[in-house]
Amino acid sequence: MIIKTRFGATADGRAVDCFTLSNTGGMEVDLITYGATVNAIRVPDKAGAFTDVLIGFDTVAGHEQYSDYQGNTIGRYANRIAGGVFSLDGAEYHVEKNERGVTSLHGGGELSSAVWQALIVDDNAVEMTYVSPDGAKGFPGEVRFCVTFTLHEDNALRIDYKAVTDKKTVINMTNHAYFNLAGQGDILGHTLKVNADAFTPTDADSIPTGELRPVAGTAFDFRAAKPIGLEIGAPDPQLVQCRGYDHNFCLNAGDGPAAELYDPESGRLLQVFTDLPGIQIYTGNFLDGTRPGKGGAPIIQHAGVCLETQCYPNTPNMPDFPSCVVEPGQPYATCTVFKFSVR
Ligand code: BGC
Repeated sequence: MIIKTRFGATADGRAVDCFTLSNTGGMEVDLITYGATVNAIRVPDKAGAFTDVLIGFDTVAGHEQYSDYQGNTIGRYANRIAGGVFSLDGAEYHVEKNERGVTSLHGGGELSSAVWQALIVDDNAVEMTYVSPDGAKGFPGEVRFCVTFTLHEDNALRIDYKAVTDKKTVINMTNHAYFNLAGQGDILGHTLKVNADAFTPTDADSIPTGELRPVAGTAFDFRAAKPIGLEIGAPDPQLVQCRGYDHNFCLNAGDGPAAELYDPESGRLLQVFTDLPGIQIYTGNFLDGTRPGKGGAPIIQHAGVCLETQCYPNTPNMPDFPSCVVEPGQPYATCTVFKFSVR
């Protein structure tokens, strides 16, 4: 079932709608058209009690004033492009350097702050579309973005990303939800499992150095589930410079979950499936308690963990990374599933 309501309006007066998807088990997902955002996910714990497991905001103003991309759809290029520059077929493109004037982060915030058109396409699915003009934030090509959110009976939220371009371009879309399976406190006691034998270490600007470093013997080894907080404070320079995990993991091939997040207290389990090559594990290191979130509660450090399925960061400048180039006539199409259960 889907219920559409008016969520609010942007500061410049654009209406923002909310679509609440529910299944027969009672799971609910709130989607808002601002940023094609997953704004809330209410799922049961092992005793059957429902809680919203997303950190974020109750209002459009909250998103506009305090956002760290909470729940947003991200693009055109999720994560970073070094120096805000890359080349395609000999032409150099300069994209917005919205991070300290040094790097381009999350496509300059274009998709995450747009108000998307929404359409109920099935009794459990909403499609959101947004057309980005040629040259937006410096990226080539007019691109028609389409994100379809489907809530399944088995408590899986499926997100299908599609994009059609009229010029050769680069695309990397993700969702930037901050999960907290307890719905409160921090996520340091959650266990995490990531199906990755390697990760991409970064320089001081959070740009991958190009090395694919084996996780074996490091704090980045999540091949067996372990609490996120267990080694987050280890004296590994990679963790120190990012104040925790903020890294792309190179996913192993296979059909199983890319990642599993589990809260032993509530018993809630989140399994992430994707066809993408990477996942950014970001443990909310830069959240600092100064911004009010849902219910006015401060969003504290490590309040949530992002599981951002993606192409590797800075792929447009890294010929050895799996390609993110999209051509006319060959639409971008990827899929990520967030499946909830209890254990
Ligand atoms: C990045 C972080 C950044 C966060 C919010 C994540 O995807 O990896 O470095 O702080 O987004 O912008």
